[in-house]
Amino acid sequence: MTVLVTGGAGYIGSHVVLALLDRGDKVVVLDDLSTGNRAQVDSRTAFVEGDIADGALVQRVIAEHDVDAVLHFAGSIVVPDSVADPLRYYDNNVVKSRALLEAVIKAGVRQFIFSSTATVYAPDAPQPLAEDAQKGPISPYARTKLMMEWMLEDAARAHALRFVALRYFNVAGADARGRSGQSGPQATHLIKRAAQAALGRIPHLDIFGTDYPTPDGTGVRDYIHVSDLAEAHLLALDALRSGAASDTYNCGYGCGLSVRQVIESVERVTGKKLPVKLGPRRPGDPPTLISDPTRLKSELGWHPSHDNLDEIVRSALEWERRFNA
Ligand code: UD1
Repeated sequence: MTVLVTGGAGYIGSHVVLALLDRGDKVVVLDDLSTGNRAQVDSRTAFVEGDIADGALVQRVIAEHDVDAVLHFAGSIVVPDSVADPLRYYDNNVVKSRALLEAVIKAGVRQFIFSSTATVYAPDAPQPLAEDAQKGPISPYARTKLMMEWMLEDAARAHALRFVALRYFNVAGADARGRSGQSGPQATHLIKRAAQAALGRIPHLDIFGTDYPTPDGTGVRDYIHVSDLAEAHLLALDALRSGAASDTYNCGYGCGLSVRQVIESVERVTGKKLPVKLGPRRPGDPPTLISDPTRLKSELGWHPSHDNLDEIVRSALEWERRFNA
C-alpha cells in the first residue's frame, strides 16, 4: 500500500511526505514543479513529474505503485493572485482537481484527503470557528476550495470513495530536522516575511492594518506548526484506512495571535528589533480567524506537540538561514 501525494514538492506536502516516510509508509509524489522544489522531496519517495489533470498518468501511477490513498496538496494558494487572476485559480484548483478525482475513482482508490482552508468560513461568523460555522468564502481562492469540498461530498455519495477535508488555519514553521520549510522567495505569509526581514533579506516587514477591531489593532490568526498539521494528515489517513466515514476537520490550535505578537516573538527569538512599516489593510483580509479544533482532537485523537509561537518562529528562521545559505 502506497500513498500518492500530489504537490509533495510544496511546503505542506513535503512535510507530510516526511511524516509518512518517518513512520514507514510508502509514498509516491506527483508534482509538476511549477512552484514546488524537487530538492525538498525526500529521496525515499518515488517521484513523478507531471500534471494532476493527466488522467492516464494518474491511473498508471496508481496501478504501478499499488496506491490505496491520495493526499491532494497540489494547487494555487496566494489569495491576492486569485483575485487578480481568478480563472487560473478555477483551472488549477477546481478543473484540474476534478480530473484528478475522476482518475482516482476510475483507478479504484477509495481514500482521499484534501487540503482545504479556514477561509471557507464567512468573515462575520462567530469565533472560534467550528466546522459547521457559516460558510462565506470571499476570495476566488477560498471559493475554489469550498467547491472542491462540495465536489468531494457529491463524488463520495455516488462512488465508493471516502474523504477527509482538512481546513488549514495559518500554517507556519519548518521541519525540526531542517529537511524542509517554506521556500518560495515571493512568499506572502507573515511568519515567512518576518523571518526574511529579520535576516535582512527584505528591508522591513509591512504591517497590513493597525485599525482592526482586535486587541492591538492588527490582524489575528491561529498559527499552526506545519509538523502538527502533518500529524493531522496521518491521523486522517489512518481513520480512512480503518473505515471511517467522510468528514471535515479544522486544523489550528484554537489560539489567536496578532501580527504584533508575531513580531514580538521574532524579536524575542532573534534578540533584535525587527524593522517594520505600518501600512493600510491588505484587501480581502478578515480581522480574525481562530479555529475550534475540538473535533480534530476528540475524533482523530490529535495532540499537537509544537503549539508554541516562539518554536514556530525559531524553526522558520532556521529554515530561512539554511535555505538561503
Ligand atoms: C491566507 C488565507 C489562507 C490561505 C493562505 C495561503 C485569508 C484570510 N487566509 O492566509 O486561507 O491558506 O493565505 O496563502 O485569506 N500580514 C502582515 N504583513 C505581511 C503579511 C501578512 O501584516 O507581510 C498580516 C495579514 O494582514 C494577516 C496576517 O498577517 O493579518 C496573516 O497573513 P498571511 O500570513 O498572509 O496569511 P492569511 O492571509 O491569513
